[in-house]
Amino acid sequence: MAQTASNEIERGSWGSRIGFILAAAGSAIGLGNIWRFPYVTGENGGAIFVLIYVACVLFIGLPVMIAELTIGRHTQRNAIGAFEALAPGSAWKLVGVLGVVTGIGILSFYSVVAGWTVGYFVKTFAGEFSGSVSAAQSEAIFREFVSNPWVAILLLGLFIGATMYVVGGGVSEGIEKWSKILMPALFCILLLLTAYALTLEGARKGLEFYLRPDPSKIRAATFAKALGQALFSLSLGMGAMITYGSYLPSHQRVPLSAFQVALFDTLVALLAGLVIFPILFSMGLNPAGGPGLVFVVLPTIFGKMPLGWLFGTLFFVLLALAALTSTISLLEVPVAFFVDEKGWSRRRAVLSMGSLAFVLGIPSALSQGGISALSSLPGIRIGFLDLMNAVFGNYCLTIGSLFIALFVGYRWGVEKALAEIERGGGRFAFRAVWAALIRYVCPVAVIVILGYILVTGQYF
Ligand code: TRP
Repeated sequence: MAQTASNEIERGSWGSRIGFILAAAGSAIGLGNIWRFPYVTGENGGAIFVLIYVACVLFIGLPVMIAELTIGRHTQRNAIGAFEALAPGSAWKLVGVLGVVTGIGILSFYSVVAGWTVGYFVKTFAGEFSGSVSAAQSEAIFREFVSNPWVAILLLGLFIGATMYVVGGGVSEGIEKWSKILMPALFCILLLLTAYALTLEGARKGLEFYLRPDPSKIRAATFAKALGQALFSLSLGMGAMITYGSYLPSHQRVPLSAFQVALFDTLVALLAGLVIFPILFSMGLNPAGGPGLVFVVLPTIFGKMPLGWLFGTLFFVLLALAALTSTISLLEVPVAFFVDEKGWSRRRAVLSMGSLAFVLGIPSALSQGGISALSSLPGIRIGFLDLMNAVFGNYCLTIGSLFIALFVGYRWGVEKALAEIERGGGRFAFRAVWAALIRYVCPVAVIVILGYILVTGQYF
């Protein structure tokens, strides 16, 4: 009895329906939308990539999100415990183990980039971009900033520390409080920036790159990257949504919630592209500029646009906070596991997992010029951060999603999953469509995409 009571206090539950949507949206919306989406789009051919990305969100991301939330709500367990509950003693719990490991892996490099947003907030606030900043100057500022090893590690530590502080405080108060104000504010400022970007001379060329598909730009890796980006952006494939779903009350309709989160998340990403590409082309920058893209592109307008200092400062604060609501969900996955399954105190789980992510993040933090050996790894010619991003942020999520789809489609079974989806609510209008997507479309598409990558060897 005492055990149950303390468990409930430890686990917490969502205060309200809108609280859940906002927290899940808070997990989904983050650097994935505003930092990762534009640069991956820029590197992979623009509009054609966007098209494939949207298809991946609809036909793979959305059904997998419904699957994850349903597993979580049904089992009321963490990423590993959920598989153990539904398939006791089987190897399926390895999917959860992969998720926990992936969560720590993503948290490590994600927090490095999140640290940059904090640094850029300070820079913008201090007026560093208030004059006219050319593309070359902006590039130089970025390079100098990220190559300072001490600053990079300090900001990484600061960001993981902030994440640990919030996750240590429990679920509903910690996460909901933030997300309610943040996401709508970020959305508004993106709208404002879009409006300005579209007035720039040369914006047209950016729009063309972003919105007019050129099929000749497709390579084998395009599909794998679009899929990985969709899963990353929606926080899928590692049990974050299983963990979030476990805090979901049974009267809440899973498919509707999933749809709203996916819609909002995709809108924010598309909007970020609509800000970045017109500015990028009007400044004559290279769309394939890599992970520094957003940090190089945006500061070039803050000195020019009306109230640019204010909007710039606001933008980076909101981006940092959006990143925080995402890192919270990344840390929550391993923490929920150790609290639920290993009987650890929340404090102990937060301290140990947070420290682990910090240590693992150090090579990423030093890979942007701090230590040259980490900037271009032997054999693969990409930096440590890019490697972490590709391994954990792309392939682990893709493999995780594949197994989640297979688990729901064939082990747990779509009938049982549908019973859970419809428990406490009305009939799920797209039950047959969802079942077909989860059983056939998702697994086949993912296997084909991964197989193609293996055959062509275009991993990165
Ligand atoms: N989706 C977040 C973003 O777009 C990142 C993120 C948070 C994530 N939690 C996750 C990605 C879980 C994959 C899995 O910034």
